[in-house]
Amino acid sequence: MDIEPEVLALIQNAKRVTILTGAGVSAESGVATFRAYKDETRESLWSQYDPQKMASIDGFLENPNLVWQWYQWRRRELKNKKPNDAHKAIAKWQQSKSLGLKQQTVTLITQNVDGLHQAGGSRDVIELHGNIWRNHCLQCRAEYKVDVTGIESVTNCPECGGQVRPSVVWFGEALPEQAWRDAESASYSCDLFLSVGTSSQVYPAAGLATLAKSQGAKVIEINPEPTESSVVDYFVLSKAGVFLNEIEL
Ligand code: APR
Repeated sequence: MDIEPEVLALIQNAKRVTILTGAGVSAESGVATFRAYKDETRESLWSQYDPQKMASIDGFLENPNLVWQWYQWRRRELKNKKPNDAHKAIAKWQQSKSLGLKQQTVTLITQNVDGLHQAGGSRDVIELHGNIWRNHCLQCRAEYKVDVTGIESVTNCPECGGQVRPSVVWFGEALPEQAWRDAESASYSCDLFLSVGTSSQVYPAAGLATLAKSQGAKVIEINPEPTESSVVDYFVLSKAGVFLNEIEL
């Protein structure tokens, strides 16, 4: 693909890069996005399921079994998914700390809960919306890792007998405090902000690009279709894996 020289120069000359990813970055791994875009053939999750029922604390308290069944289905869907070129290119960029002539700091913030950035080699991933491969107790907040053999087991908290839930952030819930602080700090301190594979519709994550822009960073958006984000300086009409693979030096 042809990359605008200004875009490439911004990426190669940046000193502090912050990347925010959304469901689109996992699309090339065969993972369904939440909201479809015009050319997408695959059904999006929220066109098939009611987010208030499946992804809200009220929905969970009203019908925990239904929500558990949904997360067990999502975990079964995700357990065989592999990181794609986008995940791997971002991980390589983080590890090499350079995509050009300069030493760069590369901070990765994700809205995704699928763990594919870590599977692709990324280490310090700021998980704004939690991680589907963890559960925690509603009462005592004890945390439990879920591996692929444990998908079907839904037990009460072994520590206190309380109700266990998936450790993902649901609509109307606060983001993990430390994750949000780290994401804000990375957005305030970067000179380049890349928004990759997100519809930029869900706040506060969608406001990070504005934070970055407000302190002088340039904002590049990578997406097969434009989003409602109003702070983008350069829009790259591309799938994430295609573009990120292309710029890998
Ligand atoms: N490469 C890059 N972007 C892509 C690709 C791809 N291959 N395929 C689709 N996209 C884009 C779509 O155009 C869309 O803009 O990815 C975006 C996915 O948007 P959403 O499905 O809304 O996902 P996201 O932005 O991550 O949603 C944010 O909403 O429901 C909540 O908690 C959930 O974290 C999620 C949050």
